[in-house]
Amino acid sequence: MIALVLRRRSRQKTNMSKPYRPRRSVLYVPASNSKALAKVASLAADSVIFDLEDAVAPDVKDDARELLRNYFLEHPTSTTERIIRINALASEWGAEDLLAARACRPDAILLPKVQTPKDVMNVAEVLEDTDASENIRLWAMIETPRGILNGEAIAELGLRSTARLDCLVVGTNDIAKETGTKLTKGRAVIMTWLMQIVLCAKAGQLDVIDGVYNDFADLDGFAAECLEALQMGFDGKTLIHPSQIETANAAFLPDASSVTEARAIVAAFDRPENSDKGVIALSGKMVERLHLDAARKILAKIGTIG
Ligand code: COA
Ligand code: MG
Repeated sequence: MIALVLRRRSRQKTNMSKPYRPRRSVLYVPASNSKALAKVASLAADSVIFDLEDAVAPDVKDDARELLRNYFLEHPTSTTERIIRINALASEWGAEDLLAARACRPDAILLPKVQTPKDVMNVAEVLEDTDASENIRLWAMIETPRGILNGEAIAELGLRSTARLDCLVVGTNDIAKETGTKLTKGRAVIMTWLMQIVLCAKAGQLDVIDGVYNDFADLDGFAAECLEALQMGFDGKTLIHPSQIETANAAFLPDASSVTEARAIVAAFDRPENSDKGVIALSGKMVERLHLDAARKILAKIGTIG
């Protein structure tokens, strides 16, 4: 009986071993813009999304693909995480985009307007059938009403290794377009949908990145939206302009007081008298082992980001 229980337990995926990968600042770069491409290497974004989809006009899709191929030939490796956003597989550009993206060997391919788990599995199967490296992961954009409603089933793919799914990205501009809602400061109107996407991502053990802030000249408004995103549980923000990178990197870095508190919690549980305790008092507050886990995560983040 106990062997049966242990066997079942070992089949369940846990996220304890997943190393932290910073995705605080995730910058879109239109693949058709050679000036912007040339700038990428000098930018401090954690991740860059080379876009073949909405930022590229239909009549320059072929040129954009060519520019991207050349870019990856000239820059075969990078310490920045690199993602390529392709057009939907069902669109007239999708198949060629997918083959071009696969050949570039990015860290991930971002699928736009994902509506069902099948939209992800179809691409995962093409990658599998063409023996694409396991290191090429998939990210999914949640930006349509159907995609939000199916968020739970889509995010569950995070628990299936064959799906390659690592991350959800929110497309706020498409959500507003598809639903007729307005993107106001504080995002009260769409907040329920955003939180639903965050919740789905957490259930699927996926990272989740917030949508863009269109007014790139308004850095105060952008900083406020980053703080809001952090409090909502997002891992980072997608960006449209280099001027937004520094603010996003600072916003999603644990602040000094949380780091001090995390160090104190770890030190307290390290004391011999607390080694077998599940709960202790620290500076007049109750601290449990779940707080110790959270404290260790904060210190791991700081250690990774430096
Ligand atoms: N990535 C890399 N470099 C960028 C960039 C980006 N997303 N956006 C601007 N730059 C570069 C410009 O090429 C320019 O370079 P230079 O100093 O060598 O001339 C510099 O940063 C300053 O740019 P600026 O003049 O302020 O902006 P712009 O008018 O050239 O471009 C946008 C404004 C919004 C068109 C541009 O930022 C952009 O295309 N952003 C991405 C849009 C996108 O991908 N949307 C799809 C997802 S929502
Ligand atoms: Mg979109």
